[in-house]
Amino acid sequence: MDIKTIILAAGQGTRMRSSKPKVLHKVADRALLHHVYDTSAQLENNSIVIIYGHGGELVKEQLNTLNADWVEQKEQLGTGHAVQQAEGFINDSDKVLILYGDVPLLKKSTIERLLENVSQKSIGLLTVELDDPKGYGRIVRDNDGNVLKIVEEKDTTEDERLITEGNTGIIATPGNLLKEWLSRLENSNAQNEFYLTDIIEMAVNDGVRVKTNLAESMDEVLGVNDRSQLAHLERVYQLEQAQQLMASGATLRDPSRIDIRGDFESVGQDIEIDINVLFEGTNTIGNNVIIGANCILKNAVIGDDAVILPNCIIEDATVGVRSRIGPFARLRPQAELAAEVHIGNFVEIKKSTVATGSKINHLSYIGDATIGSKVNIGAGTITCNYDGVNKSQTIIGDGAFIGSSTQLIAPVTVGKGATIGAGSTITKDTEKEQLTLSRAKQITIKDWQRPVKPK
Ligand code: UD1
Ligand code: CA
Repeated sequence: MDIKTIILAAGQGTRMRSSKPKVLHKVADRALLHHVYDTSAQLENNSIVIIYGHGGELVKEQLNTLNADWVEQKEQLGTGHAVQQAEGFINDSDKVLILYGDVPLLKKSTIERLLENVSQKSIGLLTVELDDPKGYGRIVRDNDGNVLKIVEEKDTTEDERLITEGNTGIIATPGNLLKEWLSRLENSNAQNEFYLTDIIEMAVNDGVRVKTNLAESMDEVLGVNDRSQLAHLERVYQLEQAQQLMASGATLRDPSRIDIRGDFESVGQDIEIDINVLFEGTNTIGNNVIIGANCILKNAVIGDDAVILPNCIIEDATVGVRSRIGPFARLRPQAELAAEVHIGNFVEIKKSTVATGSKINHLSYIGDATIGSKVNIGAGTITCNYDGVNKSQTIIGDGAFIGSSTQLIAPVTVGKGATIGAGSTITKDTEKEQLTLSRAKQITIKDWQRPVKPK
């Protein structure tokens, strides 16, 4: 049987007080709807239909890379009405799974358990035990515990309101039965809506059993209705990811002070991450890597045994094995560092390669440069790579020694083993293994008087 997932995402989300549709708000830099899609897309033999709302074109536009069919629900006449919009996509033989676009943390394993309940004789319903069931549809059971129906809060009797088992809204049913039930939905209820939940009582009347699973946690099935819930789920999600990292062999100084807004290509063993580290995009971390406090890594590749000291920002850059970066270093896109490179404080590197064992330890800007191995770049060295229009290259040969506060006016090449005297402005290529410097001669003005303030 194929699976057809229908994701309901047409709701307005007024309590977000936002100009954009609710499902576009993000957890870990990813739209709520995208999370739901990702989880569902992991199921095999599955195709996805997304129901979006009137005015929700933005949703479709921003998530147009998702492999799904998009169906507009022009008026929000209820969850049953929303599912009716997808009718044309439902095959009789499908297992239909109904998900909510604003419930981002639902687990794949939970969905799989639910789908196991689907046959011509039974459907699956995900429920949750609630301390405070306010706002939820209540699961009404008979004395033997069989589900009879779901009653929406606004339609409950006083007794029903005391029921603490709530409907998550997540349902799995055979396609043929669902289509039949959808055609019988009516809106004669307190909200004049077509309730999807009414299919439960229809199933029972048709002799189809309603098998329930309990959600693992409240948070797993929590829908986002306001920004406080959004922030709550962000923390829940981050903690889950921190747990995964630790399970894979990482030491986190504080699992509640790490943020992963993206994923890892791979993570080595015995890495150590200090507090307030932010990972974005897709990062690759080798074995025994140490990352100090307050670092931001985005699409970084960090080699084995590298140490990133506190307060570094590394974006679209590669750090070689046994390298040492920071504190306060900034590696910008296409900074490619080989093994055992040392980058110190207030050093910025952009679109440059640095070969094995080279050191740039203090206060430098290196852009559009190719730096050989075992090069030592003194404090305050700047590659002047930009003339206002063109970017030019600086090439520094193996073993060169660049004195402090040197300006290298690109395009320029420093020969292998060359030494550049401190404070030089280098405009022409320099010879290998020679000392080159450009420096005004030092003079002393004798008997010069400092100005004196009048009393
Ligand atoms: C629904 C359930 C309720 C359950 C609760 C869990 C029904 C009738 N009620 O109630 O039993 O306890 O969810 O949160 O199903 N949506 C549409 N189109 C619509 C209406 C809703 O796409 O016309 C989408 C919303 O965007 C949302 C989901 O369906 O993702 C649920 O809608 P919502 O209005 O939050 O349902 P509730 O009334 O809270
Ligand atoms: Ca809701």
